[in-house]
Amino acid sequence: MARLIIDGGKRLQGKVRISGAKNAALAIIAASVMAEGETILENVPCIADVEYQLDIISGMGAEVKWLDPNTVRLVVPDTISSSAPYRLVKKLRASNLLLGALLARKGMAEVPLPGGCDIGARPMDLHFKGLTALGAEIRLKHGFVVARGNCLSGTRIYLDFPSVGATENIMMAACRASGVTVIENAAKEPEVVDLANFLNAMGAKVRGAGTDLIKIEGVSDLRGVRYAVIPDRIEAGTYMIAAAATGGDVWVDNIIATHLQPIIAKLQEVGAVVEEKETAIRVIGREKLFSTDVKTLPYPGFPTDLQSPMMSLLAVAKGTSIIRENIFENRLQVAEELKRMGASVKVEGQVAVIVGVEQLYGARVNAPDLRAGAALVIAGLMAEGTTEVLNASVIHRGYEHLKEKLTALGASIQVHT
Ligand code: UD1
Repeated sequence: MARLIIDGGKRLQGKVRISGAKNAALAIIAASVMAEGETILENVPCIADVEYQLDIISGMGAEVKWLDPNTVRLVVPDTISSSAPYRLVKKLRASNLLLGALLARKGMAEVPLPGGCDIGARPMDLHFKGLTALGAEIRLKHGFVVARGNCLSGTRIYLDFPSVGATENIMMAACRASGVTVIENAAKEPEVVDLANFLNAMGAKVRGAGTDLIKIEGVSDLRGVRYAVIPDRIEAGTYMIAAAATGGDVWVDNIIATHLQPIIAKLQEVGAVVEEKETAIRVIGREKLFSTDVKTLPYPGFPTDLQSPMMSLLAVAKGTSIIRENIFENRLQVAEELKRMGASVKVEGQVAVIVGVEQLYGARVNAPDLRAGAALVIAGLMAEGTTEVLNASVIHRGYEHLKEKLTALGASIQVHT
């Protein structure tokens, strides 16, 4: 999936089924190493990041087998290595979640400093602060994070920022610590709740996930389970924005509507019509969309992962829109690519000012990261003429069957390798 060729100007119409959540699946796969025995995960999206995470744990000694296109069976022996292979970890940021999981299972973890999308500095100080507070000793050695802690004990941990990854890592390690751990100012993202539900199904005692105060009582045993991953709110939001941006009429199916409230609110502000059911949402675009302002914030605020797709829509919305990116400092890069398509965007620090234009025009553009890639696809769908998205393989990190799903909605999109 190196290049995508999109012939724009077609309204998206029909129904699209949303896959399992990438970020929940990545955390849950990491957590699966905490339990001996068999784990069966359903509704797992077949995307590159999931394949990387599975390759990493398979390289460490886990047995991994796809039972059907979205169900994977994992068997994690007691002999699983506590060291994650560098070659694979450098491709994927979420591999850092193995730190908490391996500490819980093996009392030690060696995880290379992770890679992932280039959207900012992405430090790990909060992960280290939390794990150290639990009693782990953390060192950085030759590009590896080396964590040791055979007898972790529960404590109170205040996060300076509600980091998703730090909350997840601490939650996992705390499951095997003695006593009670309290995480204050914890991340409230639905993927954190899904991980907590998975851990509880395995026998853990995690309470309060989804609020900013999570309590974890350590347990001595965790067992493999069968578990279904939640639907991907970011994939759903991407199709909702694409529907509104193309003046389309799309039912986005297999979703949890409460997870999508910030996106629903913004789409209504720009003039789209949104019809909501518990597990499906219909988005009807209008010929003319209107400007609005967007600030990215931790959940339940507007998600940073949908900021770039929203910028594409706002590029043709009547009036001036302002986007403020508050989570990642390098996530307004798509602006430069949208400008090649005729958008009027000015970026100053963490703020983008977008003056809506009548029309975008097809051009050759480059996907700087996963969500920016999705944004360029949306821009290509709206544009007059042909858009060529280079570096499009980055989109496959997070979107299952993107080409097939968009084609079924009436888009003209081809993949060239
Ligand atoms: C996760 C998601 C990512 C999403 C992000 C925010 C996964 C695999 N990825 O990333 O798609 O965009 O949440 O919703 O779940 N920070 C620190 N110190 C730390 C950790 C984080 O300063 O120790 C900062 C980061 O630089 C960033 C902010 O906190 O500015 C949010 O990061 P975080 O919530 O940790 O994001 P990830 O877990 O990396």
